[in-house]
Amino acid sequence: MIKIAPSILSADFANLARDISRVAGCADMIHIDVMDGSFVPNITIGPPVIRSIRKTTDLPFDVHLMIDRPEDHIAAFADAGANVITVHAEATRHLHRLLLRIRSLGVGAGVALNPATPVSAIENVIDIADLVLIMTVDPGFGGQAMISRSLGRVVQVAEMARTIGVSPDIEVDGGMTPGTVGEAARAGANTIVAGSFVFGAADASEAVRELRSAAEAGALARE
Ligand code: DX5
Ligand code: ZN
Repeated sequence: MIKIAPSILSADFANLARDISRVAGCADMIHIDVMDGSFVPNITIGPPVIRSIRKTTDLPFDVHLMIDRPEDHIAAFADAGANVITVHAEATRHLHRLLLRIRSLGVGAGVALNPATPVSAIENVIDIADLVLIMTVDPGFGGQAMISRSLGRVVQVAEMARTIGVSPDIEVDGGMTPGTVGEAARAGANTIVAGSFVFGAADASEAVRELRSAAEAGALARE
C-alpha cells in the first residue's frame, strides 16, 4: 500500500494548521523536516512547533531529523508528538543504540541515508528499523530535482530487506512529482514524501491524489 506524506517544509509557516487541514482527507502522514544549520545548511523548526501543530490534526507525524547528535533530542521530539522519528546514519555514532532507544519511547524508528552514503551502512540495523528513508536529493531544501541514480539505491534496500526477511517502510524524499513517483514506487518505495509539489499546488489534496495514483501505477508495474 502506498503512503503519501506531504512535507510541511513547503507549507506556509504562518499558516501551518490551515495547510495541514488541506491534506487532511487524503494524506497518510505529515512529514516534518527538522534542520539545524549544521548537519544541513538550513534551519527550520523544533519540538515547540511540533507540539503546537499536534493539536490540530490526527494524522501521524513523520519527523525527519536532519540534525547533528540526534540522540540528544529524541525524547523531546517523542514528547512533542512524533509518531515516527527518522535519524540520519551519517549524524550519529551509535545508530543501533539510537534506533532501539527511539522504539523504547513508543515511537517508530526510521533511518535515513544521504545520496552519497552506501546502502550497506544500514545492513546491520535494517531489522530494527520501522522505516528506511532514501534521500532522493541532497537534504536541506525543498524544490530540488530528483537524483535519478538514487532509485537504484531504493532497489538495493528493497532487496536487502527481502533477503533479511523484514519489511520496513521504504520512503523516498526529494523531487517527487507525478513524473518521478512512479519510478520510485516501481523501484520498491511505498512511502512518498512530497513538499513543493503538494503545497505549491493550487489544490493540495488533488496533488496528493495525483501522486498516489502515479505511485500506485508504478507499484503495480513492479509486481
Ligand atoms: C529536503 C527535505 C524534504 C523536502 C522535499 O531536505 O527532507 O522533505 O521537503 O521537498 P520537495 O518535495 O520539494 O523536493
Ligand atoms: Zn524530509
